[in-house]
This record gives sequence, structure tokens and C-alpha cells, in this order.
Amino acid sequence: MKIFISGKGGSGKSTISALIVKDLNRRGVKVLAVDTDESNYGFYSQLGVEKPADFMNYFGGRKVLFDQVKNLPDKWKLNDIPEAYMSKKENIKLLSMGKITNFGEGCACPINVLSSKFIEIIDLKKDEYLIADTDAGIEHLGRGVDKGCDIILIILDPSQESIRLSDKISGMAKSINKDYYYILNRIDEETKKILLESVDNKKVIASIPDNRKIARANLKGEELDFELEEIEKLVNFLEEYKNNF
Ligand SMILES: Nc1ncnc2c1ncn2[C@@H]1O[C@H](COP(=O)(O)OP(=O)(O)OP(=O)(O)O)[C@@H](O)[C@H]1O
Ligand SMILES: [Mg+2]
Repeated sequence: MKIFISGKGGSGKSTISALIVKDLNRRGVKVLAVDTDESNYGFYSQLGVEKPADFMNYFGGRKVLFDQVKNLPDKWKLNDIPEAYMSKKENIKLLSMGKITNFGEGCACPINVLSSKFIEIIDLKKDEYLIADTDAGIEHLGRGVDKGCDIILIILDPSQESIRLSDKISGMAKSINKDYYYILNRIDEETKKILLESVDNKKVIASIPDNRKIARANLKGEELDFELEEIEKLVNFLEEYKNNF
């Protein structure tokens, strides 16, 4: 199952992606984590793996990506991805599409094109997961990066901007017939109540409290390898969803 994590900047996309990946890993499930964010670097440390090389360099770099992506096969098995571009630990593999590093380097569009094509053609086995962490906002959706995914998880933090953006993302998901769900993050009793009144609460599959352990680990750049009841329930939901898929 291919899961796409979307939401407002800073809402907790990378954190929740990492917590889901780590939970699946503890269950012995094979998971490919895909970092499609061309700016932020923290995802690999949240997963506790080595920093991977930019996958775009396998194709010759950002400038030639548009042409190279056209030559990709229709299907690509996980085992056929060049090892040199993957960081691994236990059941986790991490692939990072590419980062913008230099002043005046140009836009991230080619990286989005690669992400889009890759998520579409990667051919997973029945029991394998792909979790794509994305950059802030909806540009990736505007570029169709999510077209190859099976389900979109929309992360909301307690802010009006999150509510507005989640409405936009769910609208986009509906327009391409993708199933979507909401995850409320960094909530307390009061903010959870307000968020539940503001979105279609049948679509809310998890409410993650504001958690000091998460905040501290992220501040220190540490691995997010701890069990959280809400994440466990969320992964139970995903497992059940996958079994009925
Ligand atoms: N449940 C939580 N409890 C406490 N802090 C949290 C929680 N979730 C996320 N954070 C904090 O919020 C900040 C943003 O989280 P994160 O980087 O995961 O967001 P993001 O959506 O990936 O951001 P970006 O859009 O920049 O990629 C981090 O400092 C993180 O520690
Ligand atoms: Mg992030």
C-alpha cells in the first residue's frame, strides 16, 4: 500500500511519517520511506538511518531529470532500486528524491516529476508499504505527485490555516478519486474538540497529543523510536485498510 502524507508546513508530516514507519518496522513489516521534500533534511534522523544520497543523482542530477524520467520502466520492483541510493535499517528502506542545496540552483519541479513517476511505478509486494513524506503545502498535489498513491493522510495541527488547507487537499483527493483521512496532531482536549467540529470527523483516524518526548527528540535530531498508543491504533487502522484493499 502506498501512503501519501500531506498537510500544512510544520503540521507534523515528517514526525508522523517517521512514527508510522517505526511502528510498522517493529511489527516486522517491510516499509519503503520516501522523502520527497526538496528542502528539509530531518526525516532520515527521525528514522534513525544514515543520510541517503540524492536519488536524482542516479539519473544524472536535477538538470536532466525531465528527460531521464521519461525513460523509466512501467514497473520497478523494490529489489531493483540501486542499493547505493538507499539507507537501510531492519525492515526500513529510505529513499530521498533530492534536495536543493545551492543558491540560484533553480526550481524543484524536476524532483517533483521524479517523485510522481517513482510513486506511480514502484511495484510493491502485497505486504509492503510505501510512506511518502512530502514538502509543505499543496504544490506536490498540484503537480500530481500523489497520483500513484493509494491513500492520502492529511495532517492537521491546531490552526485555522490547517483547517483551510485540509479542505483544499481533501477536495483535490476527491477530484482524483483518492481515499483520504485526517490525522489531528499536537492537540489537547480543547483543540481536538474545535478541530473535530471543523472537519468531517468521520474521516479523522487519529488524534496525536502534543507530546514532550516527540518535541525533545526532534529538537535533538534523535530517532523517533518509541511506542505511542495513538500511533499503534493508527497503524492498526492502516493494516486493516490494507487487508481490505
Ligand atoms: N505530536 C507532537 N508533539 C509535539 N511536537 C510535535 C508533534 N508533532 C510535531 N511536533 C513538532 O512540530 C515541529 C514540526 O514537525 P515536523 O517537522 O514533523 O512537521 P512537517 O509538517 O514535516 O514540517 P515541514 O512542512 O517543514 O516539512 C517539530 O519541531 C516537531 O518536533
Ligand atoms: Mg517535514
